[in-house]
Amino acid sequence: MSAYFDALIIGSGIAGLNLARKLAQAGQTVFVCSKEAVTEGSSKYAQGGVAVVSPWNPEDKLESHIQDTLSAGKGLCDSKIVETVLSNAWERVEEFIGLGVKFDKDFYLEGSHSFKRVLHVADATGRALLKPLLDNVSCNLNIAISQGTEAISLLKNEDAVVGARLKTISGEVFDINAAQTILATGGFASLYKDHTTPRILTGDGLALAYSAGAALENLEFIQFHPTVFFNGSKPFLISEVVRGAGAVLKNIFKQSFMEAYDIKAELATRDIVSRAIAEEMKKTEADYVYLDMTCWSKKDLEEKFPNIYHHCELSGYDLSQDLLPVRPAAHYCIGGIKTDIHGRTNIKGLYAIGECAYTGLHGANRLASNSLLECIVMPEFLANSILGTEFTKSNKLGEPCEDVNAALSYREIKAEEENLKNIQNIMTQGLGIERNANELKSCLNDLKHRTETSKARLVAELAFESALKREESRGCHFRSDFPKANSNYMNNTLIQKSLKTH
Ligand code: FAD
Ligand code: SIN
Repeated sequence: MSAYFDALIIGSGIAGLNLARKLAQAGQTVFVCSKEAVTEGSSKYAQGGVAVVSPWNPEDKLESHIQDTLSAGKGLCDSKIVETVLSNAWERVEEFIGLGVKFDKDFYLEGSHSFKRVLHVADATGRALLKPLLDNVSCNLNIAISQGTEAISLLKNEDAVVGARLKTISGEVFDINAAQTILATGGFASLYKDHTTPRILTGDGLALAYSAGAALENLEFIQFHPTVFFNGSKPFLISEVVRGAGAVLKNIFKQSFMEAYDIKAELATRDIVSRAIAEEMKKTEADYVYLDMTCWSKKDLEEKFPNIYHHCELSGYDLSQDLLPVRPAAHYCIGGIKTDIHGRTNIKGLYAIGECAYTGLHGANRLASNSLLECIVMPEFLANSILGTEFTKSNKLGEPCEDVNAALSYREIKAEEENLKNIQNIMTQGLGIERNANELKSCLNDLKHRTETSKARLVAELAFESALKREESRGCHFRSDFPKANSNYMNNTLIQKSLKTH
């Protein structure tokens, strides 16, 4: 079975749905698929908010946000992209206000921002942004949404991507042909044992793009979030904004320690805070440190951080009195499918947007809350580019780029839970907060000798290859065998199937 749409969007997070809305409004027919429920992705769980310089906060300046972004990116940001995205941010936020999102009028502070500039809806901003998008797309007749439908291979006709082969939860396989195919599949942090992301986010989009010949960039830059609370096995992120407001990290002896690691203490960049926590855990032989929020009363906490307060309360912690055990977990994938400002990859008909794309906005380290910003700004550029592209409607059929019979899809991997667990163990062991050549090589070797083929395994291998290439420490890539930055590595790590690596 196959069907034709103007655009096929793989992924229903804020990036994918925002784009679907814009294309459909302009009269395009759009097919959106999501691996599980349409709401399940990182977007729903975003807490802190959207970093933006706004007229509501006249003290703050665009130049300052640009400077903070470049400084976090440690020389690898594309300054033109940074300027373009950040200077378009407020206009795109206003669009969401127009859709009914009621942002709070005060701003949160997060690490390495020179001003309080994180615009939010309490501490559940992702949900608030997602809701009007879902309302909008679900009643738009130009949009078809298929939940529980996984893209298993892109379809290629000569040198162009012309759609994808999809598989439903019940095992039905069908093709969607499309003039434009857009990957909006999120990151791959769930390839780690400890992660803040929903478990379905194992980097499928990167594997699909790579198999179709698209270039991937900077996969070694994986951001770990310092403060994640584990209730049983389920991780729950405690937003950096609580540290921005005054919460303090303490070791198991209830001593604060961040000042010994960085002058910015709790508000140093995430890589520094995560490494400091790892070091403190090692020193104290504990597998957690504490986050102390007892400077606030229950009433204050309920007002300031209701989502976090109530989640922890349900787990038996009253944050106005109890110290909360936390530790770092894999959180955000900075690298991804290489695109330009219009979301175009190097393959005709194939685009990428949101966390699965690498545009050059984040460089070697993403400034906190610049990701939701990217998801609300980039769809405008991509939609304009698609709508301005001349294309003829054709039912060109394509061939899958992968051996879909041999490749295990996510659900099959899930059935073989052990396989995924092994990959998670390898990623955690070799590609954690600190890396070194011996460990990287030995883990890559383990991966290459595995018998199963899967997208997860491919993405893990490519991430290890990228990390081996970068023999320096920069941003959130810390090599204990090369602990300093090296100006010879002021370039991006590129991986492409035909070229492998260079
Ligand atoms: P996602 O929202 O992750 O959606 C990915 C989509 O792809 C899903 O619909 C999934 O089903 C689909 N998909 C994947 N593979 C396939 C496949 N093979 N076939 C079909 N569909 C597929 N950023 C900020 O800027 N500010 C914050 O405050 C913030 N807080 C965060 C808190 C948490 C707990 C987490 C996890 C992240 C946070 N982030 C934050 C990061 C930010 O939320 C994400 O980067 C962003 O939401 C990514 O959006 P996206 O649309 O690219 O992808
Ligand atoms: C947080 O709220 O701490 C997460 C923000 C982000 O990942 O940008």
